[in-house]
Amino acid sequence: MKVLNFGSLNLDYVYQVESILVPGETRAARDRNTFCGGKGLNQSIALAKAGIPVYHAGMIGDGGEILLQACAENGVNTEFIRKIPGPCGHTVIQVDKNGQNCILLFGGANRSITREFVDEVLASFEKGDILLLQNEVNELDYIIDAAYAKGMMIILNPSPYDSALEACDLSKISLFLVNEIEGYQITGEKEPDKILSRIRELYPHAKIVLTLGGEGSLYQDENGICRQGIYRVKAVDTTAAGDTFTGYFISSILDGMPVQEGLDLAAKASAIAVSRPGATASIPGREEVLHWTAKDM
Ligand code: RIB
Repeated sequence: MKVLNFGSLNLDYVYQVESILVPGETRAARDRNTFCGGKGLNQSIALAKAGIPVYHAGMIGDGGEILLQACAENGVNTEFIRKIPGPCGHTVIQVDKNGQNCILLFGGANRSITREFVDEVLASFEKGDILLLQNEVNELDYIIDAAYAKGMMIILNPSPYDSALEACDLSKISLFLVNEIEGYQITGEKEPDKILSRIRELYPHAKIVLTLGGEGSLYQDENGICRQGIYRVKAVDTTAAGDTFTGYFISSILDGMPVQEGLDLAAKASAIAVSRPGATASIPGREEVLHWTAKDM
């Protein structure tokens, strides 16, 4: 069984600010760093660091070589990453003194996925293989249909949520990982338990992880609901905390771990990520997560 993540790779330009700017405001940043990121790349690296071999498929543009290097350094297979001319996917991220962020995303090369490329990539995968997706590349609906037709098991983190997801046949998804906002956008419900039950009504075969920020996370499948709290740490930068949670939780399923233990592992990994700057740079390795306790902070 192979794991493919078809997703974005971004250069994250991260600006340290006292507080996040309001409309019309101009202010100097305290610092700026460039980090490797993108929901796709972050989740591939989280999976790899959690010990799961993963193939990443996607496109990089000008200046994207450091993203390939990040894959190589973290053991992510780069056979299906293509370099094309033009701007690389990138973001402008403000991080405030409390570690909270806001992210402006420019798709760049991530929006140049062609159906031919999708077919070429999927030709190397088969029934029973896993496909992980987010919503930062184009052709998401085609990727879902083509992978489902092959019998791949599809996991979707529908983030960031936009109208492209409305074109997707979400009945083909086996596992959703959503936050409260995405849960609301899919179901129109605001209460966590109602979000879960509505997703189960809409997609009865799917398992669901609902992350609730400071309130932890919930998981639901046909056997019921599991609840998990968070590990409180001093937040330095919340970027990629959700991606770290996603990668570690999926790794726990693939390792056959009980769900409650998997949620706990993912909560620890994302707490460590929150306590560090950057996206991929903040993702901890498996040994560190296994030996970490909240008082290490
Ligand atoms: O989830 C965090 C990621 O979202 C960042 O790394 C940024 O690239 C955006 O895609």
